[in-house]
Amino acid sequence: MDILLVGAGGREHAIAWKMMQSPLAGKLYWAPGNPGIPSAIPVAAKTPVELADFAQANNIGLTMVGPEALLCEGIVDEFRSRGLRIVGPDKEAAQLEGSKSYAKDFMARHGLPTAKAAVFTEAAPALEYLKAHGAPVVVKADGLAAGKGVVVAMDVKTAEDAVKSCFDGAFGTAGSRVLLEDCLVGEEASILALCDGKTIIPLVSSQDHKRAYDGDKGPNTGGMGAYSPAPVVTPELMARIDAGVLQPFLKGVQKDGLYFRGIIYAGIMVTAEGPKLLEFNVRFGDPETQAVLARLDSDLVEALAATADARLSEITLKWSDDPAVCVVMASQGYPGSYPKGLPISGLDDAAKEGCVVFHAGTKKGENGAILTNGGRVLGVTARGTTLREAVDKAYAGVAKISWDGVEYRKDIAHKAFNRK
Ligand code: AMP
Ligand code: GLY
Repeated sequence: MDILLVGAGGREHAIAWKMMQSPLAGKLYWAPGNPGIPSAIPVAAKTPVELADFAQANNIGLTMVGPEALLCEGIVDEFRSRGLRIVGPDKEAAQLEGSKSYAKDFMARHGLPTAKAAVFTEAAPALEYLKAHGAPVVVKADGLAAGKGVVVAMDVKTAEDAVKSCFDGAFGTAGSRVLLEDCLVGEEASILALCDGKTIIPLVSSQDHKRAYDGDKGPNTGGMGAYSPAPVVTPELMARIDAGVLQPFLKGVQKDGLYFRGIIYAGIMVTAEGPKLLEFNVRFGDPETQAVLARLDSDLVEALAATADARLSEITLKWSDDPAVCVVMASQGYPGSYPKGLPISGLDDAAKEGCVVFHAGTKKGENGAILTNGGRVLGVTARGTTLREAVDKAYAGVAKISWDGVEYRKDIAHKAFNRK
């Protein structure tokens, strides 16, 4: 069957890479795509209507959407209304990511453990609340803010500034509603699962590295690297997450009558009182997906088709025990401003080290050279019989790749090694 994949980042390259290993996969159309899969056919369609027109005209058997924005815009509703097979939640259910207050209400209604939060639509009462609450406190813009709408404030002044900047329009309408949330302390982990509304199948655990610099210092980014499994997620903890988060999520979807045939991403903080939900995303994580799919031994096309058809009860997923690591290579200055168009060397040599190099922000130059074209440029991914072996292999690949001003973290998976 021919497939339409939407998105352009490292997550989408990893999805495409895994899909192309399936005997079920025919042609891969990729909107807009990146140079990572030379055989993929680029597609210019952008909006839900254009993409559905394309899928209809080209007899697409399965459409998979990487990023959240189109899900929140209702791409699944558009495809469903035309009888086209697509993976994802509809517009209403996508609010679990698109509106943090919607997600909080869902968590409260269905008893999912999370931090206490208050919601405000005006600055004055929010600032009042801050005075009484004190720091630390977490300030969150309600809507989609490309990962920039959350400030973990260690003092009241920082929190006040964050509240003001939200209501002053720093995130457009995404910040016209603000959550003030109690600060949780612990180690984070990402739990992704396939959910078709009847069945939920967790994927293997992973951990992201959100800060730009080694030692979890510096500004927040989209994610500078990931590894799987995350040792903080012991089998006992995974059982608690399943019983306390995933199953209640599924029941909540059913009780609320939500249409959810996609990927649910639970951002978990492992606190002293147990796992708590930081957020939902309604899609694969980036760069968690690069590490997680590197360990999947099952057919991804079959799994995603089963998700879209609500046939998840018929499948099981097989995983490699080998850990996997993804090291993100970024442009100089990311997550601030950065140059583009710089030639990248060493991609083939990194592959010879046994790495899979997922493209994120790249483009093809006139002479066929691969150039930088974004903040996060590549995700160098490797598997090993031990986590150490996977890390060493990934960094051996990273060492082969260069461009002017390349930046990356040198301590991906450090939390796993620093555990007692
Ligand atoms: P979110 O988009 O809600 O996941 O927030 C982004 C990041 O902010 C998370 O990955 C955490 O590192 C941090 N964060 C969010 N909520 C909290 C909280 N209640 N307590 C501590 N840190 C948080
Ligand atoms: N890696 C975090 C996210 O995908 O939202």
